[in-house]
Amino acid sequence: MRKTALIRLSVNGEEHALAVPVQRTLLEALRYDLGLTGSKQGCDKGDCGACTVLADGEAILSCITLAQDAQDRAITTIEGLAGPQGLDPVQRAFADCGALQCGFCQPGMMLSARALLNKCPKPTLPQIKEALSGNLCRCTGYTKIYEAVEVAAGLRAPASRLPVASERAAASDSVAHAVKEIVP
Ligand code: FES
Ligand code: FES
Repeated sequence: MRKTALIRLSVNGEEHALAVPVQRTLLEALRYDLGLTGSKQGCDKGDCGACTVLADGEAILSCITLAQDAQDRAITTIEGLAGPQGLDPVQRAFADCGALQCGFCQPGMMLSARALLNKCPKPTLPQIKEALSGNLCRCTGYTKIYEAVEVAAGLRAPASRLPVASERAAASDSVAHAVKEIVP
C-alpha cells in the first residue's frame, strides 16, 4: 500500500497544503499538484538542470528533492521570479541578449543565474560558467547565456550584432536547368 504524506509547501509566496505519496518529488508536486509547469522535467535524475528552482534563494534540483523535504524552505519557481516591479533583471537580460531558443532549459538556467547573483552580485566569467555548469542547453551554444548573466549583473551591455546577411536566391523560374543526357 502506498503511503501518503500531508505536507505544506511555500511556493512563490503562497502556502499550499497537499496530500502526496511519500516518494513524490518536489518537481512532481510543483508540476502535477500545483500546476506550475515552468519547472521542466528533463532527465528526471539530476543531470540536466531543467528542473532547477530556488530554495531560500539557493538553486536546487527539484527532480531529486522529495516534496516533503522542501517543506521548511521558501520555494521560488520561474512563475514567481518576476516581482511587482516587473521582470527580474535576469529575465530581462536573457530577452535583451537573445539568450534563448527553444526555451526548455531557460527556467532552470535563469534560476541558477539568479541564485548566483544572490550570493555574488558581480561574478567573473569563470564563476558564471561554474554556476551554470549543471544546466544543459542543446540550442544556444551558451555564449549569449553567459553574456546575459553579465548584463543582468550590470557588468556589460548586450552585444549589438549585425543581422546575418545572406544572398538573395534567384527565383526558381529564372534558374536555368541544364539538360542532362542520360546515357543508358
Ligand atoms: S530534470 Fe532535474 S536535473 Fe534533469
Ligand atoms: S534554449 Fe533550447 S535547450 Fe536551451
